[in-house]
Amino acid sequence: MSATPFRFDGKHVFVAGGTSGINLGIALGFSAAGARVSVMSRNPDKVKSAAAEIAAHGPSAGFAGDVRSYEAVAAALASAHAKFGEIDVLISGAAGNFVAPALGMSSNGFRAVMEIDLLGTFHVMRAAHQYLTKPGASVINISAPQAYVPMMLQSHVCAAKAGIDMLTRTLAMEWARDGIRVNSIAPGPIEETEGMARLAPTEEARQASMRRIPLARWGRKDEIAGVAQFLSSPMAAYITGVVLPVDGGQNIGGYNPTTLDMADRMGIAARG
Ligand code: COA
Repeated sequence: MSATPFRFDGKHVFVAGGTSGINLGIALGFSAAGARVSVMSRNPDKVKSAAAEIAAHGPSAGFAGDVRSYEAVAAALASAHAKFGEIDVLISGAAGNFVAPALGMSSNGFRAVMEIDLLGTFHVMRAAHQYLTKPGASVINISAPQAYVPMMLQSHVCAAKAGIDMLTRTLAMEWARDGIRVNSIAPGPIEETEGMARLAPTEEARQASMRRIPLARWGRKDEIAGVAQFLSSPMAAYITGVVLPVDGGQNIGGYNPTTLDMADRMGIAARG
């Protein structure tokens, strides 16, 4: 975890879904920057181990609960508030995914991802609003390229993440008058995540994915953590309602496959 120039000493950061992957990376980053960090997810073992890992940096608390239940989310937030007080930074990142064509998933399969990702994000934001009273309060929802790039085998995730981005923009407008900024981060392919293990399970798929990224590599969790800190810092005080891709330039279309092949044939190599 590389250090950032940002400090969050004594601030309370609540991370829904913060017990693994990108969200745990964000939680660890804020903790290393001085914050008191609460994490919530549905697996009690993961909650325990994540809270212990974060505790190596600073104060941490873990709460088990499924974001699909408003009551569970409200209870976790109330407990976190009782322990660490008002929330300065709220991260909503709980997500589910599997790879399947629309015709290969049941109504329940589609619903599971919509409920974890989209309804879960609504629950987290809705229940946390009452604790987001401090000046500079920041909400960050974790989106994905699926929100703006149609991907086969990902209809449920595409629909859910696109919904999250509209929730971000809408509540950025509604809550601006409460002094709360709301933004999304859309991480591209990130190393050592369950999501990429599912989407690019072989070395061949991994290399093919990298060829479509202008910066020609996958990102790191600490790079997402750094952007989350920037967006929650006073330096981003005038930014709200933004969906920020952090993806090595993939959102600008990646390399056109035809001209990429042509560049290979012409021997035009990337520097370095
Ligand atoms: N293809 C088609 N349908 C699938 C599926 C697959 N690969 N995996 C799960 N489903 C369906 C199930 O069949 C079920 O539908 P059914 O009741 O009609 O059979 C439905 O999804 C719910 O599955 P279940 O396992 O009961 O739900 P869950 O709440 O325990 O799991 C998921 C949620 C489905 C999102 C699961 O993939 C998960 O827990 N993922 C969490 C981890 C993760 O995805 N991390 C990466 C984040 S990017």
